[in-house]
Amino acid sequence: MDMNFENNISFAQQADRSDVLAGFRKQFLFPQHEGKDMIYFCGNSLGLQPAATREFINQELDDWHRLGVEGHMHAKHPWFPYHEFLRESTARLTGALPHEVVVMNSLTVNLHLLMVSFYRPTAKRYKIIFERNPFSSDRYALATQAAFHAQTGGSVLFDPAKALVELHPRKGEHTHRTEDIIAAIEEHANELAMVMIGGVNYYTGQLFDMEAITKAAHKAGAIAGFDLAHAAGNVPLRLHEWGVDFAAWCSYKYLNAGPGAVAGAFVHDRHSENHELPRFAGWWGNDPETRFTMPEKFIPRKGADGWQISNAPVFSMAALRASMELFDKAGVDQLGAKSKQLTGYLEFIIGEINSAAEGINHIEIITPRQERGCQLSLVIGKNGKKIHDYLGSNGVISDWRHPDVIRVAPVPMYNSFEDVYRFGQLLLNGVKNLS
Ligand SMILES: Cc1ncc(COP(=O)(O)O)c(C=O)c1O
Repeated sequence: MDMNFENNISFAQQADRSDVLAGFRKQFLFPQHEGKDMIYFCGNSLGLQPAATREFINQELDDWHRLGVEGHMHAKHPWFPYHEFLRESTARLTGALPHEVVVMNSLTVNLHLLMVSFYRPTAKRYKIIFERNPFSSDRYALATQAAFHAQTGGSVLFDPAKALVELHPRKGEHTHRTEDIIAAIEEHANELAMVMIGGVNYYTGQLFDMEAITKAAHKAGAIAGFDLAHAAGNVPLRLHEWGVDFAAWCSYKYLNAGPGAVAGAFVHDRHSENHELPRFAGWWGNDPETRFTMPEKFIPRKGADGWQISNAPVFSMAALRASMELFDKAGVDQLGAKSKQLTGYLEFIIGEINSAAEGINHIEIITPRQERGCQLSLVIGKNGKKIHDYLGSNGVISDWRHPDVIRVAPVPMYNSFEDVYRFGQLLLNGVKNLS
């Protein structure tokens, strides 16, 4: 239900009282400023610590103390199958079948491992389409995958410099139109090996139509992969239904599992028993029944598990379990509904600031209204960096992205309407006084 937003504290507090998810805020630890919770709008970068995380990690520390190596089999949550404890909740979060997902490694590592299997260029079909201004790590991963595959057995298959096709929004626009992405896929169809796009772009906050892009990639005979760093835990995902070939995400942003936390990977069911796919193997991808008999031949487990290499980083997975329990309790649909309201309120407040500061300064929201998660990317006409720093010194954590964007992400799991209102008051001061 759409709210009739008002720019005053009593409206914000009333909206919080009516919020069925409001209780989740208490389950998180907020950094403090002058004895109060900071206005934390940076869950797109590093999510807050769930209060239960310490207990989840302590359980593993205690079991290690109590059992030593026996903890692999006898810990309260045995370490040998530890990633299994995250399977169902990860599948629910990403709209996947349970065997399509696994928690392992870190994000860029997973992207590389999946591209080893799914980026299979030939002399004719080698191009990769990706969005403008992807996160740097994705660009490096794509470029080095192209360079790695460009030569085999001493013969040059293709020129890696020609493999990367970066999309560009229309002149005067910040974000991509789906029809333009599809047109580019069709234009390059005969040479296209893969489309690899961030489900939500880190800079603009644009949510891509992953279903339409996947369909177009498949029609062109190419693979569709997504980096879901800014999508997992932020927007509803239906990876199985959309037919996405592979995806990877990190867990330290919206999934609140802590700095450098263990990441996730998705491999569509249609590839789950394809043993012909090349992959970089390790013992954790092999059948757990025979793992300790050390068979010579590697036979990958069915599904995403077959891409595992090393044994589970239990402490990091324990932290992720603490957070995934909260996602299961809150429910992705309820979080999605609140997210729309909360970010809608932020958009409304920015409109109010623009009216109040007319002729002084202007804030442009470059994130598309219909295609977004909770993040809004703001371009401030004058003194953006100074205004960002002013917010910082007044108890707001948001982030500045070179060259000119302030990213603000009111996270439905722990942010409130009051946070948005108070942020608006500070931003108005900044815009008026620092312009
Ligand atoms: C879209 C995107 N891709 C890749 C990365 C790099 O992640 P990692 O250092 O976990 O590999 C990030 C990090 O913030 C990101 O936002």
